[in-house]
Amino acid sequence: MKICCIGAGYVGGPTMAMIAMKCPEISVHVVDLNADRIAAWNSSELPIYEPGLDAVVQEARGRNLTFSTDVETAIAEADIVFISVNTPTKTYGIGAGRAANLEFVEKCARQIGRVAQGHTIVVEKSTLPVRTAEAVKRILSSVATEATFDVLSNPEFLAEGTAVNDLLNPDRVLIGGESAEAIQTLADIYGNWVPSERILTTNLWSSELSKLTANAFLAQRVSSINAMSALCEATGADVDEVAKAIGTDSRIGPKFLKASVGFGGSCFQKDILNLVYLCSHFGLQEVAEYWEQVVVMNDYQKRRFAESIVKTMFNTVSSKRIAIWGWAFKKDTNDTRESAAIYVCRDLLRERAQLHIYDPRVSKARILEDLEIVMRTNGDSLSNSERELIEKNVHVATTSYEAAEEAHAIAVLTEWDEFKTLDFDRVYQGMHQPAFVFDGRNILNHSKLAQIGFEVHAIGKK
Ligand code: UDX
Ligand code: ADP
Repeated sequence: MKICCIGAGYVGGPTMAMIAMKCPEISVHVVDLNADRIAAWNSSELPIYEPGLDAVVQEARGRNLTFSTDVETAIAEADIVFISVNTPTKTYGIGAGRAANLEFVEKCARQIGRVAQGHTIVVEKSTLPVRTAEAVKRILSSVATEATFDVLSNPEFLAEGTAVNDLLNPDRVLIGGESAEAIQTLADIYGNWVPSERILTTNLWSSELSKLTANAFLAQRVSSINAMSALCEATGADVDEVAKAIGTDSRIGPKFLKASVGFGGSCFQKDILNLVYLCSHFGLQEVAEYWEQVVVMNDYQKRRFAESIVKTMFNTVSSKRIAIWGWAFKKDTNDTRESAAIYVCRDLLRERAQLHIYDPRVSKARILEDLEIVMRTNGDSLSNSERELIEKNVHVATTSYEAAEEAHAIAVLTEWDEFKTLDFDRVYQGMHQPAFVFDGRNILNHSKLAQIGFEVHAIGKK
């Protein structure tokens, strides 16, 4: 059997590497238009950082896992084609800012229709609005001359930073479709390592909607605990204590109750906005407004964090040096999409702070590009003053210590483990007094920091 996966990103790359590792008899071909990305997948420096992924890729690459830019050949040879391309939020036209941009999915469908041979199973791996499969089916059948197709929805639930383990031991694999035979073919592949009771099958629309729903529920938990963090700060309750107290209720459970500076990542905001758009489209205004509040609360949390830094530092951060620890949207990934750090730093830059940013896995180029995009107030390019602000006020450091040297404050924006074990006496000695710490992830030992002399401000703690 031959598999082709279109899209070698954070989802396509790791998922296909796992299938190839677990199914040596299946030939897995991952293709992408982005030649740099493909070159990186073929090198010793993979394009994404994911703990444990190097070993998985190494075991299968060259044996039954290949990466290339030859999209058409891979499609033509494949029995199963996974569509794993990006579906960003639309930035223009109808549904701008909410609806998913399905341009890349449609292009894939057209290309598959044109070049596929024989009977091909087309699998939607990307997160898509409900009923996208209908459009995919229509495109395939109108473009294809001889080939025939079954379309399945098989959303990926892996989280970045834990992708390898999530793929090895998934809570469930979800396959939606109409053809029992096609569903069984895909289920048999996962059956090589996933117990059969964890392979759920549904109709196409339930599968598509389940992915959006899972992300909406997870994001809603984070926004709910973040909403409580504001109330904790006002009342003297401690949000970590509240989270523990409610999390022991087996009906609530302990996961996804960590208050933070706000959720990020490529999925949560995008998927909720997509859900909001879908609900509005179907005339369900109250449902749309209900879910939109999850994103509204997240924006509030990011803004509130930046504002509290300014307020605490005597209402001005102009020319003050602030160490930013962490840029990725969560630990153990180099992905920065929608990272809270981007928005907090935008707000601090507008207050003229001097930012010294350090992240163990994110490149300087990525950090600067993220800031260039978020600082634009007018169209597609930076104004001279915006560019000057970034050039003069943003510095990228190579260690936490370097970032904190001569700083007035430290803001922890990603929960990297290495921040917990630093020599805080040394950090304190190098800083201006009073030395502020704003722990946006509640990962540091606050009482120890206070003993050293730091003034600590944490999420959801007075
Ligand atoms: C998410 C879903 O978990 C995954 O199932 C889906 O396939 C893709 O979207 P991901 O975005 O990779 O995965 O990471 P996740 O662990 O869900 O974290 C998302 C954001 O929420 C991060 O910024 C994280 O720091 C934040 N978060 C998570 C919290 O602030 N508190 C929590 O308790 C949990
Ligand atoms: P995700 O996090 O969903 O995996 P990414 O943006 O990391 O998203 O990856 C999607 C990949 O899909 C990108 O590398 C992009 O170049 C690739 N891609 C998008 N459209 C096409 C296409 N028509 N053919 C091949 N690759 C594509």
